[in-house]
Parts: sequence; structure tokens; C-alpha cells
Amino acid sequence: MRLITGNSNSPLAEAIGHYLKLPFVKAAVRRFSDMEIFVEVQENVRGEDMFVIQSTSYPANDNLMELLIMIDALRRASARRITAVIPYFGYARQDRKVGPRTPISAKLVANLITQAGANRVLTIDLHAGQIQGFFDIPTDNLFALPVIHRDITDYLGNNLPMVVSPDVGGVLRARALAKRLGTDLAIVDKRREKAGESEVMNIIGDVEGQACVLIDDIVDSGGTLCNAAEALLKNGATEVYAYAVHGVLSGGAVARIKNSRLKSLVVTDTIAATDEMRACPNIRSITIAPLLGEAMRRINNEASVSSLFD
Ligand code: R5P
Repeated sequence: MRLITGNSNSPLAEAIGHYLKLPFVKAAVRRFSDMEIFVEVQENVRGEDMFVIQSTSYPANDNLMELLIMIDALRRASARRITAVIPYFGYARQDRKVGPRTPISAKLVANLITQAGANRVLTIDLHAGQIQGFFDIPTDNLFALPVIHRDITDYLGNNLPMVVSPDVGGVLRARALAKRLGTDLAIVDKRREKAGESEVMNIIGDVEGQACVLIDDIVDSGGTLCNAAEALLKNGATEVYAYAVHGVLSGGAVARIKNSRLKSLVVTDTIAATDEMRACPNIRSITIAPLLGEAMRRINNEASVSSLFD
């Protein structure tokens, strides 16, 4: 089992290497002066079980291209098996035609990764589980839920909050968390009028006098979580916490969260934290490195990955 990483998320890659007690294969990922990417694997990897760690987060196109070129380099260097470890799978929200003459970019990206030479994919909390089916190679979709559950019981164990899904699409995830915590579930019925904007409509469930925790897969602009928090407080919730697996946090998201009435937002490290995010008093990061590392070890040992969640 050998590890190699691109430039998208060095802290997470190092933490996985630390968990597995494995060094990284030496590789140079450089730019030509016109910004084309060049990869050189500087050690023999012939016959190896290679794990390439790279999130396709911002800048998504550069990080995706880096991943594809690394996979190509490993394939041409005769690696035995190549697993693309993609903690955050970008383009996942473009998973269906939203109108006539629009693309399904998530499928295109899945095709590109497969065509580059990946033999399998390991990822966490795909925006939609069906994206697994976009790949014709084995794809393991892990869940950050156990890590989030542990953090909630550590930090909020004395007064376990009611779980709230910030939209109808996230109900399965929220219900799974509520079941683990043994608390009630509420749903924010959100209607998005324009792309990039969100609007809270109704709260399904009684949140009066309750501490609430919102759970989502992605926090991008922060609009969904901040608006949901406002709606919950307006409906009588005492305080609102939020968890999201992937902290995309683009544009003015960090400032928005900072100025919101969210007690805290916790994200995992599938996407590398920015300095602004690290400096924000109500945003915290938890690591999924041991979860990913353990899944990688099991893939290498041909052992069960699903039993990680039993
Ligand atoms: C939507 O379906 C996703 O699950 C997230 O709720 C959404 O991507 C969050 O985006 P934003 O933070 O920009 O509201």
C-alpha cells in the first residue's frame, strides 16, 4: 500500500499518512509557465496498490486536473491498482439535468476519473448517494456521521439538541443523526427561488424551547444554514448549532457565519481550512483522517469497509 497526494489538502493527507504510519511516494507536481500541470512520480510504483489523495475543492478545475494527471502518471508507471481518494467530490451538485440543454457534470467528472485509469474511488458523503452509480468502478461512499455524532456528544452531551434538516433533501442524514442521538427531528421546508440564494419557508416539527442542531452535507455560501437558524429561533428554538461535512465556504461565507446567530458551525477537514476560517470564532473543524485511513487500510486488506459503520 503506497500513498501519494496532490496539493488540494496537505493537512488531511498528512494526517492520513500519520494514521497509517506510511510516508508519501515522492512526486513533483509542477506548473509550466502557461500553467499546464506536470506530474513526475519520483519512485518506482510498479505493481503497487496506490492511493491518490485529492479533494476536488476550490480551485476545483485545477485540483481535478491534478488528480487526473496523477492517476495517468501512476497508470503509465504500472501501478497494480489505483484508488482515487476524493474526500470532497466537487461538481457533485450538478448531478442531473436542471433544464433543457444543461450538463450532468458529476457524471462527466466520474467518466474522466475512470478514463484516466482509476480502479476504484473512495469518498465521503456524496451530495447524492446515486452518484456512486455514475462510476463503473467500485466506489465506497463513507459517512462522516459517526465522527459528527461523537463531537455532538462530547460538546453538547449535557443538553442533547433536537436534530434539524435544513432542507427536505437532507432528511435521511438528519434522521440518521437523530436516531443515533435518540432525539427528535424537525425539517426546514426551504424553497430556493434563484441559484445561490435560499429562502426558508416553514418548520415541520415543534422546536419551541429546544436547542437545535442543523446537519447538512455542504456549507457553501452559508445561506442555507444561516437562514435556517433564523427561522428556528423565530419559531422558539433556544439556540442553534450547525454541522456540515464539507466546508466549501466560498465568497463571503465565513463572514456570514461569523455575523449569524449560529452558536457554532463545525465542518470536517475534507476541504482544507482557509486562514479566514481558522480565525473565525464560531467555526471549528474536526478530522475524518482516521475514518478515511481505516477505510484505506481495509481496502488494501480486502476487508469490509461497511462494517466501519456497524
Ligand atoms: C443543497 O442541496 C446542499 O445540501 C446544501 O444545503 C447547499 O449546497 C448549501 O449551500 P449554501 O451554503 O450556499 O446555502
